[in-house]
Amino acid sequence: MSRQTQAIIDADALVHNFTLLSGMASGGNTMAVIKADAYGHGAVAVARILKPYCQGFAVAITEEAITLREAGIEGPIVILEGPHQQAELELASDMHFIPVVHQHQQLAWLNACAQAKRPKVWFKIDSGMHRLGFSLQEIGPVVKQYTTLFREKPVLITHLACADETDNHFTAQQIHDFENVIRETQCAASIANSPAVVGWPQSHGDWNRVGIAMYGAQPLSKKNTPLLQPVMTLQASIIAIRHLKQGDTVGYGQQWKAKRPSVIATVGIGYADGYPRHCPNGTPVYINGYQGKLAGRVSMDMISVDITDIPLPAIGDTVELWGKHLLVDDVARCAGTISYELLARISPRVPRLVRWQS
Ligand SMILES: Cc1ncc(COP(=O)(O)O)c(C=O)c1O
Repeated sequence: MSRQTQAIIDADALVHNFTLLSGMASGGNTMAVIKADAYGHGAVAVARILKPYCQGFAVAITEEAITLREAGIEGPIVILEGPHQQAELELASDMHFIPVVHQHQQLAWLNACAQAKRPKVWFKIDSGMHRLGFSLQEIGPVVKQYTTLFREKPVLITHLACADETDNHFTAQQIHDFENVIRETQCAASIANSPAVVGWPQSHGDWNRVGIAMYGAQPLSKKNTPLLQPVMTLQASIIAIRHLKQGDTVGYGQQWKAKRPSVIATVGIGYADGYPRHCPNGTPVYINGYQGKLAGRVSMDMISVDITDIPLPAIGDTVELWGKHLLVDDVARCAGTISYELLARISPRVPRLVRWQS
């Protein structure tokens, strides 16, 4: 392999985070949300690591579920966006997926399936996010119809808009309204995502759905969850070092100008690998125990780092973009985004290497 640009996936950290989170919501089952290639970590690898610890997986779309089954992953796989056409329901029946049905067109497709080709589904309720789901008023008859067809109750699911804020009244209202529906329908409940598992114990249900915190990023916006361990370490290596004089500029558009004689390391990672192009000058990177600072625009395959204030590294030395020494949440803050986006956008060009500490 030529360049040293890699995402190291710490399998022990993943297991540690998952068991920590499932322990916080131990009254119900915990499913691992591994959509978008497990938030960039590699869905098949993550599923294989977590299989002994979790009761099911959730993905966004049918193609992601097929990838898991074809890799030999057994057990419940919930498809959060549900079917986009009727054929997906028939496939879900064949492959034992659980699509989430959230609107009437999907319900009509479900009813039109031959009995032998009709999959079990979960139903989504719109408790205030106003993205997907049946309204609080219309879910009763939907559940009744399903219960007649399948002779069992479906699981009802909802999604919280602001669970990352632990003092948010809207979240309390969403949980309250959803609980009323659960009481009336006597169905099993699934509400909690990572922030709700950590910050809203009253949301814990029969099925909890953890994503971001399982990967070691912080789920709450204002409070730290200290025991989480970063799972992905994104690293690359120094491919060139140059000494600049005061006034020299770096990169496209000359966006960084040396205020003093400066040392610049060129590192083999760029926006084509998923390192965000909009990271500003000064965004930290970690080199040999010190912090360098991004200098100039991110290129497609390279970044430049001001290493004037740190001991001179060698060509080939490892640079951590985020991971064990530099939290992805901190880099996301610099880039004006969230950890979810940074992790999920790591491109297929970057090899994912799974490592066990033990
Ligand atoms: C419906 C649903 N449930 C659960 C999750 C997991 O959320 P988190 O990554 O915040 O744990 C997501 C993620 O976007 C989702 O869309």
